[in-house]
Order: sequence, then C-alpha cells, then structure tokens
Amino acid sequence: MEDRIYLNLKREEKNIPIVFIERIEEIREHLASFNYTDLVIFSDKLVYRLYKDFIESLKPTYLYLFDEGEESKSIESYLKAIDYLLEKNIDRKALFVAIGGGVVGDVVGFVASTYKRGVRLIHIPTTLLSMVDSSIGGKTGINYKSYKNQIGTFYQPEMIIICPKFLETLPKSEILSGLGEIIKYGFTLDRSILGMKERFEKDVFDIFHDRMLAMQLIKKSINCKVKIVEKDEKESLLREVLNFGHTVGHALETYYNYYFSHGIFIILGMIAEMILSNMIFNFDLSNVDFLIRILEKNNIKLPQKFDKNQIISIMKHDKKNINASIRMVLLKDVCDYVLGYEVNEDILYEVLGRFEKIVFS
Ligand SMILES: NC(=O)c1ccc[n+]([C@@H]2O[C@H](COP(=O)([O-])OP(=O)(O)OC[C@H]3O[C@@H](n4cnc5c(N)ncnc54)[C@H](O)[C@@H]3O)[C@@H](O)[C@H]2O)c1
Repeated sequence: MEDRIYLNLKREEKNIPIVFIERIEEIREHLASFNYTDLVIFSDKLVYRLYKDFIESLKPTYLYLFDEGEESKSIESYLKAIDYLLEKNIDRKALFVAIGGGVVGDVVGFVASTYKRGVRLIHIPTTLLSMVDSSIGGKTGINYKSYKNQIGTFYQPEMIIICPKFLETLPKSEILSGLGEIIKYGFTLDRSILGMKERFEKDVFDIFHDRMLAMQLIKKSINCKVKIVEKDEKESLLREVLNFGHTVGHALETYYNYYFSHGIFIILGMIAEMILSNMIFNFDLSNVDFLIRILEKNNIKLPQKFDKNQIISIMKHDKKNINASIRMVLLKDVCDYVLGYEVNEDILYEVLGRFEKIVFS
C-alpha cells in the first residue's frame, strides 16, 4: 500500500513527494517514472554489501560508493566524487539517487546541488535517523576541519522514498540514534509521540521491528519536520526548533570524535539543554530522568570526562550563532519552546557542570 506526504514549498513552487512503501522492490517503479540520461546511484560500502542484489537490480549506469562513516563528509571525499562524475562525463540530465544514511544523503545532496549547478536527486534513506530527519528538508553539507556541516547548501530532492524494511538490518545503536531525533519531535512539536515513552524505555529494537508502530512513529516525525520546513525552509528562525538538543549535542559529538551515532549525542544534548531550560524557565526535570533511563537501558556511557571550556569553545563555532553569541532552543514546557535564546558562558559552564554530575554519576 503506497502512501504519500507532500512537502510543499510555495516560494519555489515545488511539491516534493515523500513516498512510503512496504517492499524495497517497489523503488524500481518509482525510479522508472523519471526521464534521465544516466542513473547514478550513490551509497556507502556497508549498505551496498547488505543490499547488493537490490542495488544492482536498479541497473544503475554508474554506481559510486563512499566509505561508511562521517569521514565521507569531508571535502576530499566530496571532490573525489566530483572527479568521478567529470571523468565519466555525466551530464546535467542524469538522475542521482542517494541510498544510505544521513552521511550519504548529506554529501550526495551537496554533490547534486553543486555538480554542473544542480542535478536532480532522489533520497532513499536507509537509517531511522535519515528517514525521520536528514532526508527531509533539503539541507546538504560536509564537514570542514573539525567542524560539522560548515559547508553546504539548501537543495531539495525530487522525491524521498521511505521503506522501513531497511531498518531490519540496522544495528541497535543506529535505531537508538534515530529514536533520539524522534524524541526531539516529541518534546518540541508533537507530544503524542511521548505517549510511547514507556515503550522507548523498554526495548528500542522491539518498537522498530513492529512495522505498524515504526511506520506510525516515522510518519508523525516526518509530519513535524515537513510542517516546520514548509514555514521556514532556510532556517531564518522557526526551523531552529529542530535544533533542540543540537547545540550541546554537536559540541559533544565533535569533542568525542563521533564516538556514538549522531542521535545519541542529541539525547545527551537534550539532557544538557533541559537542565538549562530548568534553570531559566523551570522546565520539569523528570523529563531528564526519562532520557537518562533510555541511555542506561542501552548502556550508553561517555568514555571519559570532558573539558567544559573546550565544549564551550566548540559551541561558539556553531552555525546557529549570530554575532558570536551562543544561541539555543529552550523549553518552558513540553512543546512550548523559546527560539534563539542567547546564553552566556558562565551559565553554560554551570549547566555543563550539572550535566557532568548527572551523566557520570
Ligand atoms: N541534512 C540534515 O538535515 C541532517 C539532519 C540530521 C543529521 N544529519 C547528518 O546525518 C548524519 C548521520 O546520519 P546517520 O545517523 O544516518 O548515519 P550514517 O549515514 O553514518 O549511517 C550510520 C551507519 O549505518 C549504516 N547503515 C545505513 N543504512 C543501514 C541499514 N539499512 N542497515 C545496516 N546498516 C546501515 C551506515 O553504513 C553507517 O555505518 C550526520 O552526518 C549528520 O550531520 C543531517
């Protein structure tokens, strides 16, 4: 049974279909509805190993594989892909298809938006995080030096195809990572997601191997993202709400050199930003306990203590900052948020101290 949500971007007069399918094989029919000179499929080596037969069955003219992992979002890896496309003389009328997680989606999005000033792109996200977050909204990007996503574009795909069947091969840590973003939507935009709080605390595998429930959570999350992106595609203000947990989360991710999957750092970041929300707006700290229980249940422990000053210094490079002040999304209550709250370093130092006590206790 096919099902769709549309991301309607009025200014660009684009209505992007987000297509939900149950069987991976249905992807072929969707690709067949496009005209193109060459079909260029991009993936990573791990996803290719797992889905080799399916990817080959799409009969790509060219297949380009990145190494798996965040290192593929480097400028060198971007240039290598561009070199490949030039060498094969691929023209603007090709169709690019990104099959993989957020790393493949982000780097291929950047390649597609810059190669010959733009080639049409289809996202086929294969991780939970890329289904509910990175494939939706058109942000592309690569990392530069030690800073995340410092170079990028806004570039909308022609179509996004969501097939939860891919989740069956995803390791638990990656499921938990996607759950981090889903919980973020629950705290900021759709409290009904938190109705499943108790199940989140039990076994994340269990939830996402229940196809009906997985589809329901994925759709609710995508709806949250679609609504925000439709109102604020280029992140002038409202879209910032999607960054809840990300200011501290990204800084920890950089500091710990991507030790955990992205969404796990977002859970940690939400804990710190909830502590700050409590200090400023009296936000209910029982929500922090809920996140801690999820981390404990899944044996997530930071490997060693962090240097607070270094974390603050990394936060200062966050793209969301304006005029070098550190800005965050804070919560007064569940789904009652404050955007662009400017935080001074002394308060941040105190927040990180409290955070440290909680996560290392
Ligand atoms: N563009 C955006 O709006 C946006 C939003 C959030 C995150 N991101 C970016 O997304 C990236 C993280 O994405 P991610 O969490 O999907 O990580 P990822 O792409 O690195 O994938 C995680 C791992 O899972 C493997 N994998 C992918 N699909 C699989 C499957 N079906 N079965 C088994 N293994 C599979 C990958 O090979 C990789 O090893 C980060 O770089 C982050 O900055 C971008």
